[in-house]
Amino acid sequence: MPRPFLKWAGGKTGLLAELLERVEAAQPFSSYFEPFIGGGALFFELARLGRLPGCAVLSDANVNLVSAYLGVRDHVDAVIRALLRHKSLHSRDHYYAVRDAAPRSLPARAARVIYLNRTCFNGLYRENSRGRFNVPMGRYKNPRICDESNLRACSKALQPAQLAVKPFQHVLDAGRTGDFVYFDPPYHPLSKTSSFTSYDRAGFGEKDQRLLADVFAQLSARGVKCLLSNSMTDLVRHLYADFTIEEVYAPRHVNSRPDRRGKIPEALIRNF
Ligand SMILES: C[S@@+](CC[C@H](N)C(=O)[O-])C[C@H]1O[C@@H](n2cnc3c(N)ncnc32)[C@H](O)[C@@H]1O
Repeated sequence: MPRPFLKWAGGKTGLLAELLERVEAAQPFSSYFEPFIGGGALFFELARLGRLPGCAVLSDANVNLVSAYLGVRDHVDAVIRALLRHKSLHSRDHYYAVRDAAPRSLPARAARVIYLNRTCFNGLYRENSRGRFNVPMGRYKNPRICDESNLRACSKALQPAQLAVKPFQHVLDAGRTGDFVYFDPPYHPLSKTSSFTSYDRAGFGEKDQRLLADVFAQLSARGVKCLLSNSMTDLVRHLYADFTIEEVYAPRHVNSRPDRRGKIPEALIRNF
């Protein structure tokens, strides 16, 4: 512990060993930035291993997600109390009432996101075009709504972290020579029909992928160490042609066949 307290689309638990190897190659660094924090798999693993510098800046464009982190960091007791209440009331009616609610206080907002994440269909956070969480209830027999000890461990890990709702470009304002940035953007889709981009109402299209590559190049020129994960597509290969691009395979793609056919490669790109 700590482990991610949210299950997030694109969560990096399966690639942790590959990522850690690269982070170690970038050590030492002054500040750690993660501008697409999502479930925060790499951040929590580095915290667990004691491999983070004194300053970590975590951000994401999703306001509800960042509220959950702020609630857990600053009000973990109140978040746990609210989750225990959700647990005792959990039912179909309660789920849809919470889904439609917009609580004001930070702990209540954090508990709402965690409760919905634990009990919704597929456990994935997805918002519709009006920014509303629109996932139906899942069919879990006994969902783990309140993992108290892990929430406390996450709260502890988050104490030194700065948290912000910001688009990824903000790292350009803050990143200095000797810092480290891990970018885990919504993946560039492998085909036009695979719509793996609707994390929030804004989506993340080719324009954003190009802008991100530009931010990566600017930080590189400044001496900021950057690591980025993405799908292995022609666009990604083209955008990062000046940097080291490695092909990696997350264990979730491993099947019983001994060769690599049938598995989907992912790209790890670095400038160090
Ligand atoms: C692939 S997920 C990150 C997964 C995370 N590394 C993990 O282990 O769970 C991508 C994240 O990017 C965020 N995002 C989408 N567009 C963004 C933008 N323009 N700026 C910052 N964050 C954005 C989404 O809200 C989502 O949390």
